[in-house]
Amino acid sequence: VVCRDGYIKAVGQADVIRNQFSGASFERVIDCSGKCVLPGLVDAHTHPVWAGDRVHEFAMKLAGASYMEIHQAGGGIHFTVEHTRKATEEELFSTFKHRLERMCRAGSTLVECKSGYGLNLETELKMLRVIERAKRSMDIGISSTYCGAHSVPKGKTATEAADDIINNHLPKLKELKLSGEVHVNNIDVFCEKGVFDLDSTRRILQAGKDIGLQINFHGDELHPMKSAELGAELGAQAISHLEEVSDEGITAMARAECAAVLLPTTAYMLRLKQPQARKMLKEGVIVALGSDFNPNAYCLSMPMVMHLACVNMKMSMNEALAAATINAAYALGKSDTHGSIENGKQGDLIIINSSRWEHLIYQFGGHQALIDYVIVKGKIVYKNERCGMM
Ligand code: NIG
Ligand code: FE
Repeated sequence: VVCRDGYIKAVGQADVIRNQFSGASFERVIDCSGKCVLPGLVDAHTHPVWAGDRVHEFAMKLAGASYMEIHQAGGGIHFTVEHTRKATEEELFSTFKHRLERMCRAGSTLVECKSGYGLNLETELKMLRVIERAKRSMDIGISSTYCGAHSVPKGKTATEAADDIINNHLPKLKELKLSGEVHVNNIDVFCEKGVFDLDSTRRILQAGKDIGLQINFHGDELHPMKSAELGAELGAQAISHLEEVSDEGITAMARAECAAVLLPTTAYMLRLKQPQARKMLKEGVIVALGSDFNPNAYCLSMPMVMHLACVNMKMSMNEALAAATINAAYALGKSDTHGSIENGKQGDLIIINSSRWEHLIYQFGGHQALIDYVIVKGKIVYKNERCGMM
C-alpha cells in the first residue's frame, strides 16, 4: 500500500492487507496475481548527458584498439567533450530525457547521473543544469554528480586541471547550491594512470567533500592506483569499477563501509579482467551495480547488467538484485528511503509479469516483455501496453 504522499504505508499478503484496510478507499488497485512486485531498480553509475556518440570507436575497439589508445589519440572522452561543448542545453535535455525514459522502462526508478563531458566550467554547469531540470520535471529519481575531473582537458596538466576545479568550479557549485539553482549530490574523479593521479584525485575529492558533496569516484579500473585505499581513507560513499583493486583496498573498503559499484557492461565491452565480486562479497564489501551508460558502454538496462554480473562476475541472482536495489541506493546515500519495499520508504516498485522474479535476470534482454508496471512514489510512470489487453 502506497499512500498519497508517495511513501509505503503497509507491506504484506493481499488478504492481510484487505483486512487491515477494510474501511479504506483506494485511488487505484493493481491486481498482481501470479506476478512479482520488486523494489524499483537503482542504477548507481551513469553518464547520460552528452552529444556525439562513438559507434565508430566501437568498431575500432572490436578491431583491437584499447580504450586508452583511443583516449590518448584524442578520441574517447575528448571526442564526446568536443560535441557536448557545442550542443545547446535544449538538445542535451532532449536526448537525456529520452535516455531516462528508456532506463525507466527497463525498471530503473533511481539513477545516478554524472556531468563530465564539459571539463570547462561553462559546459560542466550546462550539463548540471540539464540534470537539475530533469530532477525537477521528471518522476524518475536522480542523484547528480559533478565529474569535472573526468579527463584532463587538452592544453592542461592534471595539476592545473585540479587547481581550476578547486579554485573555480567548486566555489561556483557551492554558490549555486546556496542560491537554490543547482543542487549537486556527489563528486567524482577518474583516478587513472595518464588521467588524474592519486595526489590530484585526493585534492579534488577532499575539496568536494569540504563543500558537502559525497565522494563517489572512478578508481582502479585499468591500472592498480590504490584508489580504494584512498577512498576508504577519505570516507568515500562509493568507488566504481575496481577491476584492478588490491587486496588491501578491498579490506579497507569493507572496513570503511564504502560501497563498490561494479560495472559489468564496461568490463564486458572493453574485455577487461572482471572485478572480483566474489572476494569483495566474502570480505563484507557492500557491492552495488551500475549500467555505466556512456558513449563507450551503451547500455540502459539494469536487468541486463544484473545478468552480466551473474554470468561474468559469478554473483548469485539474489546478490545481483540486492546490488541493483538496496546496495545501489546505499552507494548514493539513499538507502534510508530507497532500494527496498518497507514501511516508510518511497513507493518505488516494478511489477514483473511472472511468478518468479528471477526471469528478469534469466531472460537476457527480455525485460521489455516482463516489466508490466514501473511505479515511482506511488505513481505509475510506465505501463506496458500489453497489460491493457489482458
Ligand atoms: O566509467 N572510465 C571513465 N569513465 C567512463 C567512460 C566514459 C567515456 O568513455 O566516455 C566509464 O567507463
Ligand atoms: Fe563511468
